[in-house]
Amino acid sequence: MSGEQAVVIADEARRHFAMSFGGKPTLVASAAGRVNLIGEHVDYNGGEALPIAIQRRTAVAIRLHDGAKVTHVNSGGTGGVLRIDHARLARRRKWTDYLSGVLDQLIGAGVDVPGLDVAIASDVPSGSGLSSSAALEVSFDFAVRSLLGLDAEPIALALECQRAERQFVGVPCGAMDQLSAACGRAGHALHMRFEPVHVRAVSFTESVLVVDTAVPRSLRGSAYAERVKECGAALAAIQRIAPGVPALAAATMDEVERADMPEVSRRRARHVVAECERVRLVEEVLAAGSRFPGELALASHTSLRDDYGCSSRELDWVVEYAMRMPGVAGARLTGAGWGGCAIVFGEEAALHAVEEALPPAYAQAIGHRPRTWIVSADDGARLET
Ligand code: GLA
Repeated sequence: MSGEQAVVIADEARRHFAMSFGGKPTLVASAAGRVNLIGEHVDYNGGEALPIAIQRRTAVAIRLHDGAKVTHVNSGGTGGVLRIDHARLARRRKWTDYLSGVLDQLIGAGVDVPGLDVAIASDVPSGSGLSSSAALEVSFDFAVRSLLGLDAEPIALALECQRAERQFVGVPCGAMDQLSAACGRAGHALHMRFEPVHVRAVSFTESVLVVDTAVPRSLRGSAYAERVKECGAALAAIQRIAPGVPALAAATMDEVERADMPEVSRRRARHVVAECERVRLVEEVLAAGSRFPGELALASHTSLRDDYGCSSRELDWVVEYAMRMPGVAGARLTGAGWGGCAIVFGEEAALHAVEEALPPAYAQAIGHRPRTWIVSADDGARLET
């Protein structure tokens, strides 16, 4: 579906544009949602992860206008327009904050951002943990930078969007989502290191089944910030016995066990150190041309459930159900957790069988239907012609 679907979303952005502003945009840029294959809750701990960009995209159609320094943005398919005044950027706790955050970064970096007409279309489901916010930030930043003829190197662009999310929107996230949305490459997973940031594409041509538990995740924001704090406490404790350790992911399991810290921080730290080891193993297996080692996905899920405390009854249900199906290699929660999506690895035929059998069984056990998609690795930020 990759190519065609991208055209559909880009065309939808053009249609929204014509409806809201008349005529054609100067350009359309897009960026992808992401699925993390393995390496969860390690980005803000200086670790390593292995995500893919997926064939769910956000497209931004854009053109300069010669009025005041204000961004006009379409508010859905209705032709209605919202207004973001560049001189009065303020957090409003709605989706336009992601755009305001990017504008805030650009203006803070000395860019004199002129008036913009912007229309957006997306098929990245929001609230599912597939990084719809990163896709929005990155596609918008890429569109503005391309329109103004500014540098749009993907890693720098992703880090600018991460700063927008941390400083303006107020989520203490790592850089994984924005890097995936910007740097994705079709047929490849992205082996990411976060301190310093380094991204290397590794061949990955498998399909992955994504199961959205479709559970509202109101807890997510605060629980995420709490984990960031617990990891900070673990690092501080480790640095008291090993001052040279720069980040939690760089600690050894021995240091984690020896340092004096609350048990809850120790469990978080165990997960981080073990998860990074799993990422390195998976990367080696993929680089050698083999299939994703499903047992490491399962080990990751167990660690997220038991040590990191970010699974949910629904996510555990999906993983356990999938693991009982023939031909399934592994399964785990993906993204922050506390709801959102799980992913399933295995031969294509097995993934289709799970996609058929799981939803009715889930509906019976949990009380509502999940959403499912079969995805594979796609490109990150790009211009749509
Ligand atoms: C969210 C954050 C990412 C990362 C994941 C967990 O998606 O935005 O930075 O921390 O959770 O791996």
